[in-house]
Amino acid sequence: MYLFKKISGLRQFLESYRSKNRAIGFVPTMGALHKGHLSLIEQSLASTQCTVGSIFVNPTQFNEAADLEKYPRAPAQDLAMLYKAGCHAVFMPSPEEVYPQGLDTSVALDFGALSKPMEGKFRPGHFDGVAQVVKRLLDIVEPDKLFMGQKDYQQYLIVRHMAQALSLPTEVVVCPIVREKNGLAMSSRNERLSPEQREQAAALYQTLQQVEKWMGKHPPREVEQKALQALQQPGLEPEYFQLVDGQALQPVSDYESPTSIVACAAIWVGGVRLIDNMILK
Ligand code: PAJ
Repeated sequence: MYLFKKISGLRQFLESYRSKNRAIGFVPTMGALHKGHLSLIEQSLASTQCTVGSIFVNPTQFNEAADLEKYPRAPAQDLAMLYKAGCHAVFMPSPEEVYPQGLDTSVALDFGALSKPMEGKFRPGHFDGVAQVVKRLLDIVEPDKLFMGQKDYQQYLIVRHMAQALSLPTEVVVCPIVREKNGLAMSSRNERLSPEQREQAAALYQTLQQVEKWMGKHPPREVEQKALQALQQPGLEPEYFQLVDGQALQPVSDYESPTSIVACAAIWVGGVRLIDNMILK
């Protein structure tokens, strides 16, 4: 496995694959890796000839300085995990390498309704930062396939929209959510939870499973209310719970007309914000 901190070295390495028409897969991450991240690496290894992972805690997507500061970092452990997984190359740039002075890396795209609800509402500017860093990394890596987790469903839709709107030559592949034994979706942020809080946080997945059963029996708004009530437990503070159309992210008013329905939620467990979702249809 090769580790690159500079764009020039990475591009030179990738050229040897590109010139032989070998497909390049890319998995962008912010590090503090877990099995969820590794499942994306594995999917890339299975369907491309060269897998590049990146580790970069992107400052432009954090809407709170404290969240950026507290974001877990474990580069040595991350590199060991990527090496063991069989990743071909890792890009671990400095902020200056990603955002050099004088280079306009902003993405002038209107994500419209996709960026407004849920994460967009509670984390203003977050998706502009995500689009900015993903576009910049795609410009650097120029992968054939980009692997994104369903765990961040809205982020996946934003990136997919960007790839379509800018006619990027990259296929966006979405990968299923990897969970802990108790159902808690794996997340770098889970490291900030105590063992007790990890158990409490499992209520989010249990509620999503419950919603699957309520669906069809109660109207969508009622199901959302019931889910929010179910999440009113000691140690938990739900932020939103919404049943949305899986393509446009608009609230669904019935279960028949949308072709896909996703339940999306965010909760606070102590000072840690967690998100999860379930594709219901
Ligand atoms: P990060 O939170 O590190 O996640 C990197 C990728 O791993 C994302 O595509 C995310 O959806 C996926 N992922 C996280 N937890 C997962 C799980 N439990 N199961 C499956 N996939 C999971 O998302 C980001 O970083 C950043 O916003 C990034 C796209 C790297 C841009 O900075």
